[in-house]
Amino acid sequence: MKHLRFALPAVAVGVASASTAAYPAAADPAQYVNAFIGTLNGGHVFAGATLPWGSVKAGADSLSGDNQAGYVSDGTPITGISQLHDDGTGGGASLGNFPFLPYNTSQCADNNLQNCVIDHTNRAVPHGTPSASPGYFGIPLNNGVNAEVTVTQHAALHRFTYPSGTKEPILLLEVTRDLSGSYRAPGNYTVSPATHGGVRVTGGGTFGPSFGEGQYAVYFCMDTTATLAQAQSFSTVSGSVEYTTVNPKQTFSATIGSNSPAGLLFGFNSVPAETLNVRMGISWTSTAKACAYAEEEIPNLGGFNTVKSDARARWNEVLNTVQVDDTGVSEDTQTLFWSSLYRAYISPTNITGDNPLWVSTEPYYDSYYCIWDSFRVVHPLYAITAPTTQAEVVRALIDVYRNTGWLPDCRMSLDMGYTQGGSNADSLLSDSYTKGITAGINWEDGYAAMVQDATNEGDFSVQGRGGIASRAKLGYVPFNDTSDNPPNEGPNTRSASRTLEYAYNDFGIGLVAKGLGKTADAQHYFNKSGDWFNLWNANASNSGYSGFIQPRWSNGSWYYDPRYDLNDVFRPDHCSPVFGHDDCFLNPTGGEFYEASSWEYSWYVPQDQASLVKAVGGPATYSARLDAFFADGFHDIGDEPGFLPTYLYNYVGQPAKTVDRVDAILNQYFNTRQASFLPFRAASLLMLGRSLNGLPGNDDSGAMGAYTVWSHLGFYPVAGQATYLLNRPYFPKITIRNEATGKTATIIAHGLSATNIYVQSATLNGKPYTKNWISHDIFTSGSTLELQMGSSKNSTWGTAEADLPPSLSTGGFD
Ligand SMILES: *[C@@H]1O[C@H](CO)[C@@H](O)[C@H](O)[C@H]1NC(C)=O
Ligand SMILES: *[C@@H]1O[C@H](CO)[C@@H](O)[C@H](O)[C@H]1NC(C)=O
Ligand SMILES: *[C@@H]1O[C@H](CO)[C@@H](O)[C@H](O)[C@H]1NC(C)=O
Ligand SMILES: *[C@@H]1O[C@H](CO)[C@@H](O)[C@H](O)[C@H]1NC(C)=O
Ligand SMILES: *[C@@H]1O[C@H](CO)[C@@H](O)[C@H](O)[C@H]1NC(C)=O
Ligand SMILES: *[C@@H]1O[C@H](CO)[C@@H](O)[C@H](O)[C@H]1NC(C)=O
Ligand SMILES: *[C@@H]1O[C@H](CO)[C@@H](O)[C@H](O)[C@H]1NC(C)=O
Ligand SMILES: *[C@@H]1O[C@H](CO)[C@@H](O)[C@H](O)[C@H]1NC(C)=O
Repeated sequence: MKHLRFALPAVAVGVASASTAAYPAAADPAQYVNAFIGTLNGGHVFAGATLPWGSVKAGADSLSGDNQAGYVSDGTPITGISQLHDDGTGGGASLGNFPFLPYNTSQCADNNLQNCVIDHTNRAVPHGTPSASPGYFGIPLNNGVNAEVTVTQHAALHRFTYPSGTKEPILLLEVTRDLSGSYRAPGNYTVSPATHGGVRVTGGGTFGPSFGEGQYAVYFCMDTTATLAQAQSFSTVSGSVEYTTVNPKQTFSATIGSNSPAGLLFGFNSVPAETLNVRMGISWTSTAKACAYAEEEIPNLGGFNTVKSDARARWNEVLNTVQVDDTGVSEDTQTLFWSSLYRAYISPTNITGDNPLWVSTEPYYDSYYCIWDSFRVVHPLYAITAPTTQAEVVRALIDVYRNTGWLPDCRMSLDMGYTQGGSNADSLLSDSYTKGITAGINWEDGYAAMVQDATNEGDFSVQGRGGIASRAKLGYVPFNDTSDNPPNEGPNTRSASRTLEYAYNDFGIGLVAKGLGKTADAQHYFNKSGDWFNLWNANASNSGYSGFIQPRWSNGSWYYDPRYDLNDVFRPDHCSPVFGHDDCFLNPTGGEFYEASSWEYSWYVPQDQASLVKAVGGPATYSARLDAFFADGFHDIGDEPGFLPTYLYNYVGQPAKTVDRVDAILNQYFNTRQASFLPFRAASLLMLGRSLNGLPGNDDSGAMGAYTVWSHLGFYPVAGQATYLLNRPYFPKITIRNEATGKTATIIAHGLSATNIYVQSATLNGKPYTKNWISHDIFTSGSTLELQMGSSKNSTWGTAEADLPPSLSTGGFD
């Protein structure tokens, strides 16, 4: 998804905390992770503490318009430290439930808790420079309290260090607060003194999803070994806050109406008084489960450093399936690479065993935000670096189909999210299927789920596809399609981009059908994947090139948008950075292309680039047209459809041009900076702003991170099939260990240097290799790909017809 505006940053800059001495450098890739990359200018990166795919993601929340993931490096004050977040999202601010906020004694005059400011906005505290490392986040608040947090899978352990001399540490827990203020009844909490010698608070609330339908309930279990000196419960009645004194010696319960704020203020008898450790278990099912998770995962509330180092060790275990030789590689490149890989593992969240929606022995993952973003890069990455997780994700998705009727595109906080474009879970599944991911997966059910998407229509704003009947009749989804059954509840837009996506989704169904021996089905879906050509208007032209994807009416006439295509001249550059860039979102006026232009979507035929090469006028035109696409500003790397085009030169035998293109994109748009730039130059830097601060757009659940990882590894997945397009590695040697097969694939770039960036020749397992693409079996079999690097573009390697990546029409998938 795209951010709609640029927030001009103010000051604060986060720093990654220095490496700990606990691991030898080679085994501690966590030392290179800078969690603050992408926390400015709409990257919406989650900088807080989580485990890989962790349910609990705890961190500070900034009082900022860009706080989709909680903390923002823009110097805005902190409203709380909450337990749940998402990474890189483009919808409303996500989660941020059950925030804590510590107060110093002078903030609550006369040691009266009713004098502490609890209003969300007014209570916000300025802060100093935060620090973060995998599994840890800390921030010094200007009220003198240092707030730190570390995590396990389902629990957070907070450590608040109060100003020295504090006699009674004060803490706020707001039960009704999340980042977007979505609380709705019911909610409630119970304070039980003297449990485990301290205090236990259990409770829950009901909230709304940040980019979806319905509501969700989530539960907490808070424990501290400190005893209560005093406590106040507060709730909002007819717009004003009312307090109830809690007797520290008795159990206290409250049910909350639909009004916010409501929660608790505590004054503790803490020993030592300056340090207060608070454990917070979270469950999507019940308070009992939240307590059980907390007790099991963090038995010792004093063990902050143990939890912190265990979290880091878990991160290193996951990061270490990839190893790189860093000889001659800058620290900056290492930071960029490992921070990007780290982000690819933040979402989705593994809440297996904690899904209240249905009873199942299958895994359950949440926070797909959205598959439209992640299927292209994140899930293919798991297929080589984390296949065990990917198998669980596939099983979980198939189980969503079993229980809700369709595969999802977006799903968050147990709710259905808004579908962006095609039914791209189909391509996520075909990607895993063609890569031999099988562990525990019922692929017949997987296939049935894909066919369901393609043939039965539900409410396509949240599941499956729309325009199925029209497309079956016409071979495309027409503008203003009215065939939906039942009527779609969302915008009936994106007809052109959805046609392209459905065509490619169908290709994936064909691949799975073929593998399962369903020959007739495979033929049917491969044929449907040719639908893209029905929207190819050979006469549409722009910037010297003709032939573009254009929407059509159901009667077959080309559709011209009266707002842009004046005098019936179609504008393929609309929605690109040069014209109407911010027009094409998921809203009723969003038009017929989603988050990218016809210029960009007209490349989106990953199943059959050979046919596209013909359609545009041959390889020379295709190559020149790609050059123009980048040079004339139509390309947009800030959204995911912009990823694949950077590698397309391989389809016309020009892998060295891919090297140049990807190099330029990485240099310009992906970096380790999270610093502000000078506000007075802001206007002139607006266009450049995308490149100045880490990421060119929302991280989108690690999608931007995963693109960066692939580009550094030296090859890029054509998601949905087992094809990888070669560029060049940024490390002299890379190994990738496949957890599923136990085999290790090796990529060696001999002679790689700042100038030796082009492949001269290659061998695969010692035999000459001239193809400019590789297949997935390299990773399952543990092959060795050796590349000889040089400074000039070799005019023969990877350039012959036989070296081109597979296309349907030239028999590449037979
Ligand atoms: C308490 O917080 C206030 C407001 O942030 C601050 O001005 C004051 O210096 C703090 N007191 C101590 C002892 O840190
Ligand atoms: C307490 O709140 C939770 C979360 O909204 C809800 O599921 C539960 O029914 C509530 N319990 C009572 C007794 O109101
Ligand atoms: C997901 O969670 C389940 C239940 O806690 C666990 O058994 C499984 O190993 C987890 N998967 C991964 C990839 O961590
Ligand atoms: C779209 O279809 C609806 C229902 O048939 C119709 O009322 C509306 O005028 C159409 N819009 C356009 C722009 O043709
Ligand atoms: C699909 O099948 C139809 C009918 O046989 C045929 O006309 C069309 O060319 C086929 N399309 C592709 C892309 O194979
Ligand atoms: C392009 O224009 C020519 C001449 O007007 C016409 O014959 C042809 O059908 C048009 N092609 C498309 C795809 O509209
Ligand atoms: C198709 O429908 C559109 C919108 O109603 C109309 O402008 C166009 O003239 C029609 N084309 C034909 C060939 O009837
Ligand atoms: C260029 O590539 C061809 C084909 O791989 C190879 O035979 C030749 O040696 C390469 N040239 C150089 C200078 O390495």
